[in-house]
Amino acid sequence: MAKILITGASGLLGSNLAVVAAAEHQTLGIYHQHPLQIPGVDMMAAELSDPRQATRVIAGFAPDWVVHCAAASEVDRCELDPAWARRLNLEMAKNVAEAAAGVGARLAHISTDAVFDGELGDYRESDEPRPIMIYGETKLAGERAVALAHPEALVLRINLFGWGPGPKRSLAEWFLERLEAGDTCPGFTDIYFSPLLAQHLARALLELLEAGASGLLHLPGHTCLSKYEFGVQLAQEFGLDAARIRPMSVGDAKLTAARPRRLCLNGEKVESVLGRPLPELDSGLRELRESRGMFPSRRQAKAGAAA
Ligand SMILES: NC(=O)c1ccc[n+]([C@@H]2O[C@H](COP(=O)([O-])OP(=O)(O)OC[C@H]3O[C@@H](n4cnc5c(N)ncnc54)[C@H](OP(=O)(O)O)[C@@H]3O)[C@@H](O)[C@H]2O)c1
Repeated sequence: MAKILITGASGLLGSNLAVVAAAEHQTLGIYHQHPLQIPGVDMMAAELSDPRQATRVIAGFAPDWVVHCAAASEVDRCELDPAWARRLNLEMAKNVAEAAAGVGARLAHISTDAVFDGELGDYRESDEPRPIMIYGETKLAGERAVALAHPEALVLRINLFGWGPGPKRSLAEWFLERLEAGDTCPGFTDIYFSPLLAQHLARALLELLEAGASGLLHLPGHTCLSKYEFGVQLAQEFGLDAARIRPMSVGDAKLTAARPRRLCLNGEKVESVLGRPLPELDSGLRELRESRGMFPSRRQAKAGAAA
């Protein structure tokens, strides 16, 4: 059993990872403004963009592993408030990396497919990132700060879907809420991604830490598809009417931040480290359906998420 500290444990990835990690490890989850109870996980509030708090929390727990999931992940808000995006995606990442290095803890830092411009797709670790919006720019700056502060860190570029604790809806929850209400909803036909179910991502991440992996790795799902196709396959898995998803171009949605079009990541390198193929989307959608209601939630209020 290792001691594992998870930042962003009140968010989509962090809460799923905490549930999976707590089955085998002594787990401390850090939240900021949204308390959440996760069985088997100690939870603590901290403002990690303050370097003193980051150091105090990490040194106080003395973890074997730190997984840094906390971030400014709202793409349009980042565009409207670049200082906020920079403080969280760059400075907070640097604080956590320095504090982890200071206590000799291993670090997994979570980054994103959105460091790429989306012109080519099937991105490998050797491809040059070229972000086209503030979120991607600040996440790339965070990756670089982490590599300097903690040269042995594992930096994982991901995209994911899953059950989040709310009130923010993940993409899958956003589609399901509308389709189950009998509404129509748009699905972008020209944004491609390769999302991995949060539980599958959590299991692979823990395997990588146990294997001593470090450096930059892409950790995508095996299936590359458009957000429209994702919505259709999700609807079919949940027995909902996929015809209610209207095909739409992202250009017609008038979103605040630019969206890269082809963001699928190539997972061959991580598959060779794991010694197994990454999961296909259909197995992730099946497990999503089977695990409904099994993840911690504080959902009450209505909130939006982009398609
Ligand atoms: N969601 C996606 O589709 C997606 C896709 C690609 C990559 N990623 C990356 O995956 C990681 C996890 O994303 P996510 O969607 O799980 O994020 P999320 O649901 O938006 O959660 C963000 C987390 O960060 C915490 N946080 C924010 N400001 C903080 C601060 N000042 N101090 C301490 N904690 C703070 C939040 O705490 P409170 O809520 O308690 O305030 C929350 O737990 C991020 O690195 C993101 O860039 C996400």
